[in-house]
Amino acid sequence: MQLTDQNTFTLQGINPVQLLEQYGSPLYVYDGATIRRKVNELQHAFSGINMKIKYACKANTNLSVLKLMRSIGVELDAVSPGELEMGKLAGYSGNQITFTPSGVPFEEVKAAVEAGSIVNIDSIPLLEWFGKTYGNTKPCMIRIKPNVAAGGNIKIMTAHADSKFGISVLLLDRIKEVVAKYDIKIIGLHQHTGSDIKDAEPFLQVADILFEAAKQFPDLEILDLGGGFKVSYLPGDAVTDMELLGNKISERFKTFCNEYGRELQLWFEPGKFLVSEAGYLLVKTTVVKEDPARNFVHVDSGLNHLIRPMMYGSYHHILNLSNPAGESKPYNVVGYICETDTFATDRNLPEVRPGDVLAFLNAGAYGLTMSSNYNTRLRPAEILIDNGAAKLVRRRETLEDLLRTQIEI
Ligand code: LLP
Repeated sequence: MQLTDQNTFTLQGINPVQLLEQYGSPLYVYDGATIRRKVNELQHAFSGINMKIKYACKANTNLSVLKLMRSIGVELDAVSPGELEMGKLAGYSGNQITFTPSGVPFEEVKAAVEAGSIVNIDSIPLLEWFGKTYGNTKPCMIRIKPNVAAGGNIKIMTAHADSKFGISVLLLDRIKEVVAKYDIKIIGLHQHTGSDIKDAEPFLQVADILFEAAKQFPDLEILDLGGGFKVSYLPGDAVTDMELLGNKISERFKTFCNEYGRELQLWFEPGKFLVSEAGYLLVKTTVVKEDPARNFVHVDSGLNHLIRPMMYGSYHHILNLSNPAGESKPYNVVGYICETDTFATDRNLPEVRPGDVLAFLNAGAYGLTMSSNYNTRLRPAEILIDNGAAKLVRRRETLEDLLRTQIEI
């Protein structure tokens, strides 16, 4: 993104307001150049070791985004049969897609294994089932819960003792018993701490826990440290220092590999880090309501398109692209859904008029993938800008799309 002096921006020379005029409102726009830059940044930070990126595609499953990822050597982490299928449609195959389920029916795991995915086993019952079903004929990884609390808010912390995810590190003996009983081929250990983790410290802490656990499994090939790097939602906000993290983790990883006696692969599965900043939700303002208590700006969108502010209280920066030099005023920016779908409270924006185009930044991750049809509203179209050209990569939903699954009686 190139921010201009007046708080508007262009993407690879393309004006987002023109895109909105051409494709309608609201509109998700993704900047391929940002995705490429973020992938580079991560690869560069870990260039001293054997590191692989498994993009957590729950953040954004647009097929064209997945294809872009594949074209630059990024592999995939999927959590459902739907994500696996999307990955295959984007050209991924076999063990390029890791399957990281959370308490799913075993048939889903079976389908993933049979398609060649490596599964991160997240419970003892699943491990038992895996052993009974495959013995040592298929490799798998174990998702460890390290009992470390870190992340932007409690809803997105996934490794603390009370979290549902993974098998507690305190159950290592039980894991080893089951593995021995069925001679299960464990090729890797996995963990994911949470999302929005700024400091290097929690990453180092869980890495040490994983290294320690790995000593009990002599035939590993992979250690997977998950995702969770913090991006800047509020401009200027502190983010994970990737150079620092890369240096520290790489150093410890090399020492561990020496002790372990074998060269391992280190995997990361970021979502936000790769796609959050690349995405924008463009909306139009509908009504500007000057209430005695507040100035409300309604937009033609709501929690049905971007639920992060309502679900986590997340901050998304907003620009008024139609009046960037307007006089600053405080607004509550709200949606059109019949719920309290507040995007921002008391936010200073250049004067907003009905019909102005607003841009929500950092909408590339967990935007459209967490959207819904609540209030029988339709999902926006999506545009990907890559190599200087803007292309429609999902058409706007229609009422026919929604009716397709209904059966009238
Ligand atoms: N790996 C696993 C196993 C995960 O569960 C997740 C995210 C990731 C990787 C990627 O985490 P990231 O790098 O994107 O932080 N919807 C929330 C974030 C929850 C993500 C759930 N799992 C949000 O919008 O903040």
